Amino acid sequence: MCGIVAYIGKNQACPIVIKGLQRLEYRGYDSAGIALMQEGDITVYKTKGKVSDLQSFIEGKPTDSTLGMGHTRWATHGVPNDVNAHPHYSGNKNIAIIHNGIIENYAVIKEELTKRGHVFHSDTDTEVLVHLIEEIQNNEKCSLEKALLEALNKVTGAYAIVVMERNDPNTLYGARKGSPLVLGIGTDEYFLASDATPIVEYTKNVVYIGEEEVVVIKRDGGFTLKTIQNVEKTPYIQELELKLEMLEKGGYEHFMLKEIHEQPRSIKDSMRGRLNAVDNTLKLGGLKEYEHKIINANRILIVACGTSWHAGLVAEYLFEDLARIPVEVEYASEFRYRNPVINENDVVIAISQSGETADSLAAIKLAKEKGATIIGICNVVGSSIPRETHAGSYTHAGPEIGVASTKAFTAQVVVLTMMAIYVAYKRGKITESKYRQLIIELDTIPDKVKHIIDSTNEQVKKIAEIYKNAHNFLYLGRGYNFPVALEGALKLKEISYIHAEGYPAAEMKHGPIALIDENMPVVVVATNHSAYEKIISNVQEVVARKGRVIAIVTKADDIIKSLAEHVIEIPDTEESFSPLLSVIPLQLLSYYIAVGLGKNVDQPRNLAKSVTVE
Ligand code: F6R
Repeated sequence: MCGIVAYIGKNQACPIVIKGLQRLEYRGYDSAGIALMQEGDITVYKTKGKVSDLQSFIEGKPTDSTLGMGHTRWATHGVPNDVNAHPHYSGNKNIAIIHNGIIENYAVIKEELTKRGHVFHSDTDTEVLVHLIEEIQNNEKCSLEKALLEALNKVTGAYAIVVMERNDPNTLYGARKGSPLVLGIGTDEYFLASDATPIVEYTKNVVYIGEEEVVVIKRDGGFTLKTIQNVEKTPYIQELELKLEMLEKGGYEHFMLKEIHEQPRSIKDSMRGRLNAVDNTLKLGGLKEYEHKIINANRILIVACGTSWHAGLVAEYLFEDLARIPVEVEYASEFRYRNPVINENDVVIAISQSGETADSLAAIKLAKEKGATIIGICNVVGSSIPRETHAGSYTHAGPEIGVASTKAFTAQVVVLTMMAIYVAYKRGKITESKYRQLIIELDTIPDKVKHIIDSTNEQVKKIAEIYKNAHNFLYLGRGYNFPVALEGALKLKEISYIHAEGYPAAEMKHGPIALIDENMPVVVVATNHSAYEKIISNVQEVVARKGRVIAIVTKADDIIKSLAEHVIEIPDTEESFSPLLSVIPLQLLSYYIAVGLGKNVDQPRNLAKSVTVE
C-alpha cells in the first residue's frame, strides 16, 4: 500500500508528482504529501485526506522545483493525519524520505535513537528510518549513499523508499525490498514510482528495481544500480506495454463501471494466443517448461487473498472436476503461519491481480523453500510475485484501477479454466471431443458477457434502487456458483459498506436461515445444471420465510421465475464456465447500490488496491 512517485529533470516536478500521485491513489488515500527541493532547502507540504486535498493545500504556495517526490498513504503505523503523512524529515531536516512498506524492527531502533537524543514527531516507522540514516551519516561523516546502504542493512521488513538530501539538489536515491519501485528513464529526466502508471506518458523505458537494490540518480550523470551490499548491477531496461488511455475513465462515471464493461475485451485478451478457436486447441506458453509438473502433480495448492482467493475456489472445482487433481485453496495469510505440509510433487498456484500482495508473496516463498513448483497467475507485469515463480500465465486484463476487483477476477478465472482444460486433456481425463467442445464454448464467453452487461444493466439498476437501504444481504450459491456467491457478497461489502454474507446454499439451513425475514434480500445464484432441484428447494426455503429472492438464472428458467421476486436471466453455458457469467450481474448490483448510496465506489474507505503489508 501507499504510492510513491519522484521526479528529477528539467521540468517542474510538482505537477508531475501530483499527477503521478493521482494515478497511484488506488494504493492508499488517507493522507498525501510532497517534498520539493527549493533553493537549497527541502520544502514539505502534507495533509490528511486525498491527493485533491493536497492540491488545494499547496495552491498559492511556492512549488518551483525540478526535483521532488510525493506520497499517498494507507496508514499502517499511526493514524492518518498531517503529522504521520509522508514525506518525513530527518532531525536536522537535511534528508527527506517517502516510504511504502513496514520497517518491522523500528521500535528497537527508535528506542536506541531516542536514547541518543533523536526527537520524533510522528508515530511512523518511516521517520525512524530517516533518523537512522541521519545518525549513521553524522557518526561516520560519510555520504548519504553510504549511510543509506548501511541503514538498509540494519532494518528488517519491507520498503520502497525515495530519499533526497538538502545539500545535494542534483541527486535522488531509491531503494526497494518487498515493495515495488520502477525507474522511468526519459530524456534528461528520471522518474521513480510504485508502478509504471505515473511514468507512462513521459517515457516507455523502465527498469524494475530488484529486491534489495538501490538506484542513485544524478541529474546530469545518469543512474547507477547496486545492491544494498554495494555491488553494482547492470540494469535491465524494458519497454512498457501500458497505454495512457488504459488509465483513464473513458467516459464512464467510475473506473469500476468501466472495468465491468471492459470484461468482454479483457477475457478475450486473456485468451488471445492461448485459445485457438480455428483448430480448437489450447496453448499456455508461460507454463510449457513446467507443464509436466502440473500434469503429474500429486495435488495443487492455491494461495491467494480476497477476490483472487475466490478465483482460486473456482479453480478448485475446475481442476478436481475436469483434471481429477486434488486441490486445496488456502488464504495466503493463514497458509504461511501454520507450518503447512508441502512436498516436491506439489504445485502451488499463486493468484494475484497486483502481483504484490505481501501474504501471497510470503506464502510462495515458503512453498518454494520446501521444493514445490510455483506457478503465478498475475495481472501486473513485472510485479513481485511473477518474479518469485517458476512459471506462470499473466492475465491480460489491463490496469485495474477501481479498488473493487472485477475484470481481474474474470481474467483469472478464464486463465485457470484454460489451464484446467489443458491439464485434464493431457492427463487423459477428458476425451478429445470434450476438449474441443469446451474450447468452442469458452470462445463464446466474451460475447455472452457483453450480452449480460447490455441486457441486465437497467434491470439491475432498478433492483439496486429497491434494496439499497437494506442492512444485510445473503448471497447463496452451490458448486461452481458458491465462490460467485462469496464474491458477490465481498463486492457489496467493500463498496457499499452493507453487511453481506456468501454461503453455500445448502449450508444455509444449518444456521443463517435464522436471519431470513421480510427485510432480508437473498441473492441466489441459480444457474446450475447439476443439483438444480436442490437449488430450487433452497429458494423455496427462503421464500417460505418471506425472504426476498433475487435470483440469477439461466434464460428460460420458468420454475425459479415463478418463485423469486426478481430474476435476472443470463445465457446458458457449460456449468464449469458459469462463474464467468453469473458474477457479472452481481458486480453491477454492488456497483449500483454503492452509487445509489453515494459511496466512493473507486476508493472505498479503509481499503487499498495493493496490499503490501502482512
Ligand atoms: C476485492 C479486492 C481484494 C483483492 C485482494 C488480493 O475486490 O480487490 O480482496 O482481491 O486484496 O489482491 P491481489 O489480487 O492483488 O493479490
